[in-house]
Amino acid sequence: MQDKNYLMIPGPTAVPPSVLEAISRPMFGHRTEEFAAMYKRIVEKLQMVFQTKNDIFVMTQTGTGGMETAIANAVSPGDKVLALVTGNFGERFAKLARIYGGEVDELSFAWGSPVNVKQVEEKLAANQYKVVLATQNETSTGVLNDIEGIGRLVAKTPALLLVDGVSGVGGIEIKVDEWQVDMLVTASQKAMMLPPGLAMVSVSKKAWEVIEKNTSPRFYFSLPAAKNKYDSWNTPYTPGVSLYVGLDVALDMMVKEGMDNVYARHKLLARATRAAARALGLKMLAEDDWASPVVTGIYSPEGIGADDIRKIAKKEFAVTFAGGQGILKGKAFRIAHMGFADKMDVIIAIAALEMALKKAGYPVELGTGMKAAQEVLLGGND
Ligand SMILES: Cc1ncc(COP(=O)(O)O)c(C=O)c1O
Repeated sequence: MQDKNYLMIPGPTAVPPSVLEAISRPMFGHRTEEFAAMYKRIVEKLQMVFQTKNDIFVMTQTGTGGMETAIANAVSPGDKVLALVTGNFGERFAKLARIYGGEVDELSFAWGSPVNVKQVEEKLAANQYKVVLATQNETSTGVLNDIEGIGRLVAKTPALLLVDGVSGVGGIEIKVDEWQVDMLVTASQKAMMLPPGLAMVSVSKKAWEVIEKNTSPRFYFSLPAAKNKYDSWNTPYTPGVSLYVGLDVALDMMVKEGMDNVYARHKLLARATRAAARALGLKMLAEDDWASPVVTGIYSPEGIGADDIRKIAKKEFAVTFAGGQGILKGKAFRIAHMGFADKMDVIIAIAALEMALKKAGYPVELGTGMKAAQEVLLGGND
């Protein structure tokens, strides 16, 4: 059936019908009271999701644009930067800092492993950094990093902590104020349940002091320009108005469900997916202790290409899994369970995975993974 598409990738993710309806409403101008009231409402709800009193800018750009906004405003040429790298997106953050003239020290960890906080402590003790970069949820491997632990260390130094929360925020709890995150970046198309096109960036007082003195060239990504308009709940350039309308509605959905329930739902879906993969004899990229609640990375079985499994799942069952990135290309695939995802989405994903594995020549007793997932799902949220 042509229009069926079960999207199980870590962005863009499925968009709820109420959000689809919202983004298709008639257009209105952004230099209006209507827009200002909406922007204010959105920021208040985002502050609840980010757990912060900091300014939060909603910007019409993708997650990478949000990352560039953070870097362009926090890193001046010649600044010493510590980049904590656990995969593809950690590498991207480091690359951006280098492009803006940062002298980047990369502290890298094996793909599938998280940041070792002890090593961060050693690095911070031996060097004077201006900026530290971390990824909350490393989407390429399905690894959750300890932002609280990193934040505790960075807060003792003059350095700013910039966190890429593009695939985590909205699905994984983050406490910007308590964990002392100076800039948190997220984007619309993942756990926030919207189409691609918006980035959200929070900025602490400590960050503002740096931003004001920053010497990097900035125009579209300028936070002072955004702040100038933010004080009257507006944006310097034409915003993607429809996406803001959608964001307002998506945030209402989160508020209604309750953030604790949102986070518990994601954890449950991750546990069900992992139990299913394990029951099928598959190996996961991340250990349980640091497994992402929003995306599960799985190695393909010996002798079977990950992309062959994905192709069968897509062609025969209309289920899209994400491929491995970077060094994991062809060796691993990823199942996302983020945003507008629920129990039956996991069941569909696992059913398709079992059939795709069988068709690819892997010995599967059909139902083995499903049963494991169903048992976790019936067990509730513990
Ligand atoms: C952790 C992380 N950071 C950054 C990005 C880049 O976001 P975008 O593709 O919206 O530019 C992604 C996208 O997958 C991501 O998962």
